[in-house]
Amino acid sequence: MARYSITRGVFDILPEDTELWRQVHLWHYVEERARALCKAYHYHEVRTPLFETTDLFTQSIGTTSDIVKKEMFTFEDRGGRSLTLRPEGTAPVLRAFIEKNLAQQSHLHKFFYLYPLFRYERQQAGRYRQHHQFGVEAIGASSPFQDVEVILLLWTFYQALGLRDLTLHLHSIGDEEARRLFRDQLKEYLRPHLSNLSEESRERYDTNPLRILDSKAPEDKALLAEAPRMLELLGPASRAHFTRVCELLTEMGIPFLIDHRLVRGLDYYTDTVFEVTSDAIGAQNSLGGGGRYDGLLKRLGGPDLPSCGFGTGLERVLQTMIAQGVALPPFPTPLLMLLPLREAAKTKAFHLAAALRAQGYTVEIDLQDRKLKQALRYADQIHARFVLIIGEEELASGKAELKEMATGTSRPVLLDRLADALPKNS
Ligand code: HAM
Repeated sequence: MARYSITRGVFDILPEDTELWRQVHLWHYVEERARALCKAYHYHEVRTPLFETTDLFTQSIGTTSDIVKKEMFTFEDRGGRSLTLRPEGTAPVLRAFIEKNLAQQSHLHKFFYLYPLFRYERQQAGRYRQHHQFGVEAIGASSPFQDVEVILLLWTFYQALGLRDLTLHLHSIGDEEARRLFRDQLKEYLRPHLSNLSEESRERYDTNPLRILDSKAPEDKALLAEAPRMLELLGPASRAHFTRVCELLTEMGIPFLIDHRLVRGLDYYTDTVFEVTSDAIGAQNSLGGGGRYDGLLKRLGGPDLPSCGFGTGLERVLQTMIAQGVALPPFPTPLLMLLPLREAAKTKAFHLAAALRAQGYTVEIDLQDRKLKQALRYADQIHARFVLIIGEEELASGKAELKEMATGTSRPVLLDRLADALPKNS
């Protein structure tokens, strides 16, 4: 029994793990795809601290949201300040944007991040207390083209990873005025049925009635089938914006579903909201989501610039890839394993390895003085493609036998010309 164990709701990402999705080379693969796409779309990486002052999150996410009410890791530092481990990525990016006056200082207003985030969730499959998001935030454009660029980036990311059978849910929650009207109508509609609503929804009736819409409780779902629809209350500008977003998505060949119950769990959204779901990963089926949050920058003390973005959970993305059996990158294996048999040979092997590693080859050296048989077994276990034994004779002659593990065949090579005998940089 180990003396220390990992705390609840979090996980290690290791080179090898019984759970494939926790293997680090798959994380690299997904992160590289994200970075490559952001480069193509001209989004720039930002890295903000793990924690921020608590009020940044209460102000932006909203005091009635589940995240602020029950999921933040909030603590007091030694100076008595209230700090919170970031539960989401949007507010920190905006805080940095405002603080560094990037609206004036820089022309680059499109950002991405690959962050760990922290939410004190009840433990269940697909919900972690530390999860990782790939997210983007585009600041400055109010055009529906911007909404669609963001959605296209997300969709292309999933496609590049080989995911399929995904559903893009799309909705508009309009402006403040439309939401106020809708809130009143929804409450009116639900009032006679209050006692039939789930306990959670009854609580939300007064604090955050919009969130009742995306309740998963069967009793609520039945009631909500006939509920008033937000889209019918949109003002002319919001309506035109939403229509254009739908047209452009169709134009770009991205299928979507208008989802009258999509409201999202953070309070900063306005107009377009979206979420991508997969049936492959059980109840926590949301792979990613986002939308517009036009008033947020101003509310946080910045310029009044329209913005939109998304966040997608890398755990769920990896789990979906595995559940769908998509082609995964191979486990990284060394090209060559050097087996020096004596101390003097070790020095030579060290030089050879350094030269080859400098050329980009993956080279392993046995430093544990294994017996030859054990060393070969180890080379086999780590899937080394070639093995080179360096003993006294090899040192003296400057020649050795390069053994290919898969075929068992060997051929003589000059130690100082080893790179010529290896396949080009793999
Ligand atoms: P969110 O919907 O709260 O949005 O999270 C985005 C995604 O992160 C979810 O769809 C899910 O895949 C993943 N996720 C969230 N919580 C957990 C968890 N506890 N465990 C595992 N995965 C989780 C946001 O956070 C917004 N900041 C997105 C955004 C950016 N909107 C505009 N810009």
